[in-house]
Formats: sequence, structure tokens, C-alpha cells
Amino acid sequence: MSIRAVVHGIGMFVPEKVLTNADLEKLVDTSDEWIMQRTGIKERRMCSDSESASTLAIAAAKDALKDARVDASELQVIIVGCVTGDYLFPSVSCLVQEAIGAKNAAAFDVGAACAGFIYSLNVATAMIESGQVTNALVIGSDALTKFVDFTDRSTCVLFGDGAGAVVLKAETGTDRGVIDTVLLADGSGAKHIDLQLGGSKYPVGRDYSEGKRPYIFMAGSEVYRFAVTAMGDACCRALAEAGMEASDIDLFVPHQANLRIVDSAAERLGLPPERVFKNLEKYGNTSGASIPIGLCEAVQQGRLRPGMVVMTVGFGAGLVWGANLIRW
Ligand code: UT7
Repeated sequence: MSIRAVVHGIGMFVPEKVLTNADLEKLVDTSDEWIMQRTGIKERRMCSDSESASTLAIAAAKDALKDARVDASELQVIIVGCVTGDYLFPSVSCLVQEAIGAKNAAAFDVGAACAGFIYSLNVATAMIESGQVTNALVIGSDALTKFVDFTDRSTCVLFGDGAGAVVLKAETGTDRGVIDTVLLADGSGAKHIDLQLGGSKYPVGRDYSEGKRPYIFMAGSEVYRFAVTAMGDACCRALAEAGMEASDIDLFVPHQANLRIVDSAAERLGLPPERVFKNLEKYGNTSGASIPIGLCEAVQQGRLRPGMVVMTVGFGAGLVWGANLIRW
């Protein structure tokens, strides 16, 4: 009988501090009207000086463990989708492991930007389905506002901070669990979104005459054009691999990057608004956290219940993109 990776608990955390469009109007030449029309974002959450990707991840992990009624010492692996880790090393997952007391868990991070949760969920699912582990804690956590240039209106209006987490357990004799995942990448688009300073090519503390960027750079319209096609393609491929139709999707939880991108993906799948989850108005683009936060709020609102088919899809720096089909 085949082993399935079934979601047993979900949790999330966002910082208390709210950054509204009105706040941004005071920092750059922008307006609430422009931001709402072009992105659908009204406000976002922002880490305080004492918060970071690990503190967000730890809080979301505790929430998910409580929901799953799993003790941290039982965990066998912790995987964190994150590109804004506290340090280059150690990984955020090791900081989480220590903080929650997961003494028996392996721990590693996955660097797939806004598709970080989709990639991480797939790695955990493969480990469970192969019999290597019987449970996993999967987290998407990012603190993008730490790397935003608050004088650049083309990026500073988009991003927010947060974390979401799920506890997966191995089960047999069930049709619940992760059904299919599609993972894709195109490194030729690496130049479209990057953060250059602080890596091994341009370490901090050196004098770079070219002035390498310490902040997020994004060629917004190139990424936009790519995303509109990529989101729909990944979904269609996952559905085809699973032998399912878009009409089988009970809830669509896409990466919350831009309302227009979300709507065009939903339109391509022919999904009515009640089957499309959106919360980007409150949080903006939280990178790897966006999908697990969406799943968590959907559960809290009663829109996602056991047995329902949920599709996630996301894209981001790399370029990377992908989709998960899950029977909740
Ligand atoms: O998770 C993956 C990460 N990336 C994304 O999801 C981003 C995908 N891209 C987008 O969401 C959109 O491209 C943006 C929201 C970033 C930009 O929207 P757009 O409709 O593609 O606008 P644009 O970049 O073509 O800019 C249109 C105009 C420009 O002015 P001009 O040259 O036409 O005079 C910009 O300078 O809007 C201007 N603009 C702004 N105006 C007011 C750009 N940002 C702002 C702003 N406020 N914040």
C-alpha cells in the first residue's frame, strides 16, 4: 500500500508591525490608489529589529505543532523554505530545531525564493513516500523587508514578512495527502530578481567600485510577464500528471505576489472567485511564507477542510516556479 504525506497541522505567524500604503506615501512618490490598482496590496507586516526569519519560523512552527498535537521531540526532519535567513550559515532550520527542542530531527533550508514552500513540501513528501521519515515539519519563512530599499518605489510597496508551517505525517490506506508536485526553474532569468551583496561573489565589507546592491532588485514587468504564463502552465501540468481537471480543485491558493497575476492564473483555470484564496491586501508578497500563510488562513476561515483538493502555485527569484496538488 502506498505511503502518503498527509497534513496533520498548520500554523502561521506575522509580525505585529503594520506598514500601510499611507505610510509608504510618506517615504516614496507613490499613492494608495496606484498600489491598490497595480498590485492589490493595502498593507504588509514588517519585522522589528529583534525579529528575523528564524523568529518568524519558530513561532509558526510552534503553532503548527500545537495544531497537529505533535511533540517537537518526535520530529524527524525540519525543512525551511527561506532566502532571507538570519545568517549565511547556520541555516534557519537549525535555529528552529534548537528553539523548539526537536532533538531528533535533521534540519536544512531550501533556497527557492517565493517557491520555497512548494519546493520544501515536495522534498518532505519524497522523504515520507520513500519511507525515509514518518513525519516532517515544513516551514516557509521570509523577512524580505530587511532587504528592501525604502527609497525604491518599484519594490518597497510589494514585500512583507511572515511565516507559515505544516506538520506532515506518513499514512497508508488514505487518498489524502500530497497528490502531485511540479517543480521548474530557468536560471536564464536570474538577472530579473536578485540581491547581490552579502554572498561569496560580493561579500560584505569590501569596497565595490561598481556599487553592488545591498537591496532587492527586480525587473518588475519582466517578472510579471513570466509569472502570468508560468503560474498557469505549472497548474495545468500538475493537473495533467494527476489525471485531474481544474474543476476538481476545491480551493486555489496561489503565491500572493500581485492581484493581477493571481486573477489571470485563476482565469486560465476557469475557477470562480469563491475557489480562489487571496490575502495579499493584508500581507503583500511574503515570499516563501505566502502559500503556507494562505493555507493556514483558509483553514481558519473554514474554506479548506479535510478531503478537499487544494492547489498551490508560486514563482520567484531564480527564476523558479512550481505547484502542489494536495488532498487536505
Ligand atoms: O514573488 C515574485 C516577485 N515579483 C513579483 O511578483 C513582481 C511582478 N511584477 C509586478 O507585480 C508589477 O510589474 C509591478 C507591480 C512591480 C509594477 O507594475 P507594472 O504595471 O508592471 O508597472 P511598471 O513597472 O510598468 O511601471 C509603470 C509606471 C512607471 O512609470 P512610467 O515610466 O510609466 O512613468 C513606474 O515608474 O508606474 C511607475 N511606478 C510607480 N508609480 C507609483 C512604479 N512603481 C510605482 C509606485 N507608485 N510604487
